[in-house]
Parts: sequence; C-alpha cells; structure tokens
Amino acid sequence: MTPTQGQAPGPTPTPASAPGAAPGRSSVLIDGIGLLYTGDPEREEIADAAMVVQDGRVVWTGPASRAPDTDLREDVGGRCVIPGFVDSHAHLVFAGDRTAEFAARMSGRAYSAGGIRTTVAATRAADDETLRARVAGLVEEMRRQGTTTVEIKSGYGLTVEDELRSLRIAADWTSETTYLGAHVVPDGVSADDYVRLVTGEMLAACAPYARWVDVFCERGAFDGDQSREILTQGMRAGLLPRVHANQLTEGPGVRLAVELGAASADHCTHLSDADVDALASSDTVATLLPGAEFSTRSPYPDARRLIDAGATVAIATDCNPGSSFTSSMPFCVALAVREMRMTPLEAVRAATYGGARALRRDDVGVLRPGARADWAVLDAPSYVHLAYRPGVPLVARVSSLGRSTE
Ligand code: NIG
Ligand code: FE
Repeated sequence: MTPTQGQAPGPTPTPASAPGAAPGRSSVLIDGIGLLYTGDPEREEIADAAMVVQDGRVVWTGPASRAPDTDLREDVGGRCVIPGFVDSHAHLVFAGDRTAEFAARMSGRAYSAGGIRTTVAATRAADDETLRARVAGLVEEMRRQGTTTVEIKSGYGLTVEDELRSLRIAADWTSETTYLGAHVVPDGVSADDYVRLVTGEMLAACAPYARWVDVFCERGAFDGDQSREILTQGMRAGLLPRVHANQLTEGPGVRLAVELGAASADHCTHLSDADVDALASSDTVATLLPGAEFSTRSPYPDARRLIDAGATVAIATDCNPGSSFTSSMPFCVALAVREMRMTPLEAVRAATYGGARALRRDDVGVLRPGARADWAVLDAPSYVHLAYRPGVPLVARVSSLGRSTE
C-alpha cells in the first residue's frame, strides 16, 4: 500500500515445477480459489478458479482446470479471492479524536462542519512523530481489513506549513495524495483571504506533494464560486480535481465536479434529479461514504437511484475523526448493501473497481493480466458474506504486489 513502507513477506509457497527459482521472479499459481471476484467488467466472477502472479503482477486468471505450469503453487482451500479494496477517500493525517462529539450526536445533536476546527487545533499542536504514528496505525488497520490502495487527504492543517507537513507525511504511505487546504475557513481569517492563500502560496507549496485537489463544497465551508476557483487553480498547478459534494445539503458541488471533469464527486447524499443525470452522463464517479451517514445519523445516499441511472459508484470509508471514524471497507460494504439498496455484487464492485475508477487507476481494484497482484483471501466461499456476516473479520490474508501478510 505504501511507496516506502516495507511489507512483510508471506508464507513460503510450495515448489511446483521449478524448485529453487529466484523468489520474486518466480511465477506463483494461486490455486483452489472457490470463487474469484476479478473486478474486471469483462469477466467479473470465475468459479473454481486459479490465478498466476509474477513480479508483483497478475499474469493469468481463469478456471483452475486450465491453469498453466508455474514455478510455485499455493492453495487457498476453496475460499473466495477478491482484489484488495481501493479506499479512495480518507483523511488520515490528524491528531486527537472527537469521541464526545460523536456521543452527543448519538443523543440527537446534528453534525456540523465546524467540528473540523477541533481537529485542526489538535493536529497543529501535534509533532510529526505523533501524526506519523496515527497514519501508520490506521493504514495497518485498513490493510488487515483488505485495503491495498488508499487515498489520503490533507485538510487538518489549514496553514501553509501544516498542510505541507500533512501531505509530506501522507506521501510516505501512498501516491494518492490529495490537497484539501479548502476543508473549512480557519478561525481568525476572512473567507476571501483564505481562498487567496489556498489558491496562492499554499497551493504552490503543496502541489509538488499532491496528485489531487479537493474542496469541501458545502454550506458552512466553500460555496460554488469559491470551489470553482480553488479547483481551477489547483488544476493549473497540475493537480486533478475531486470534490466533497452534496454531503449535508443539495448544492452546486456535484454539478461543478462534472463540469470540471473531476474524477469523483464524494458523499452525494443529497442529490437533485439534475445531479443524478449529470453524474450518469459523465466520467465522474459518485463516491458514497456510508460510514459518514452511520456516524452522523443522516439519511444514506440512494445508490440504487445512481446505479439505475447509469452512474459509476464507488464506496470508501471517509476515515476521519469527525464524521466517520472507521477504517473498514467490509463495514462500508455491509452498510451499502443494507442501507443503500446495493446488491452484494454492486457493493464489492464499488469497493474495488469503483474505487479504482474514482482514482483513475487501471492497475488496482481488478485482478486481470497486467494489474498489480493486490488481493485478499476471505474466510468465506463468496464475497456475499461481507454483507451477510457483518462485523465478522472475514479477511484472512492480504497480498500486495505479490507479498502477503496474514
Ligand atoms: O468528508 N466533509 C468534510 N470532511 C469530512 C469530515 C471532517 C470532520 O468532520 O472532521 C468528511 O466527512
Ligand atoms: Fe471526506
């Protein structure tokens, strides 16, 4: 999952046809796959399957009966194999937590974007080591639950120095880094001055460490005109746009995302018919974040309406200390099935292939020749169990670039 982090090698596969072949360069047959969910729309499910990986890439998938000869062989005992989850929306660089705010919400208080400032204060006060330890812990939690690609946003710094620090830290774990200087307007600064900073000095400092630019386009954060300016200037600096859109109210976020060709409009909780049509007739993915609705006691987005209209849907955790403090893609898949009218197949697709579309990636979220060998073994015969057995730790093993951890 990380460009720099070392990954523990997995169990040693047993030699098949070429004992002693150099590890890493050897081809490995993953055999005994009861059900392979590939994430590849061309051939999404293969029963009684096998997969060959070599040099960290998938080189073959198909029925086990037709598997080619390989150097090494591993048997997964009839279990289900899926691509590693692609969590395309997470805010992991922060300090502190907001337990009291969550508890108050569960007794009826409404969620407000203002809580972001509490985490901003804690994050600014934390040293680098504390922030790094938090990211490392959350990334490890994610990995244990099957996530092999994660996007990480800044947005709890809101000064040039603190946003830059957040992105430098994020970049140690992922290449999918997002500049979210425009999370809220910090205390003590006028909105106009802050938009100038976010599109000027802060952008210049942060752009070298980010792939994406994001904005919280919402009442209480940034309006449509401010959001357009922030995204446009980010794009001029070479960043690709994505938008926090229509989370708390219907607003201009989704249509702005589509207008600018954003890879993703995230949240999509309150959508007009025009928003749904705009998403359906575009390449902008609707990324749904059911952990946020769970943790804010809000109505869930209507995935069925989006899918039936023809939009591409992704599911992500939105992991953050305020609105969704979960690192678990299986939990989000279960919520999506139970609360968002998605079928189990649609939900696992949204958590793998959909997330990859939301990051404009072809090499993750799918298991087909050429893709990264990022996959998870479920202690279950089918991905349906992710929703059928909610809360049960079903991810038995995770492999990233061909290297496994139990
Ligand atoms: O995606 N909506 C904006 N940002 C986060 C919430 C951040 C927070 O409450 O700290 C989100 O839900
Ligand atoms: Fe978010």
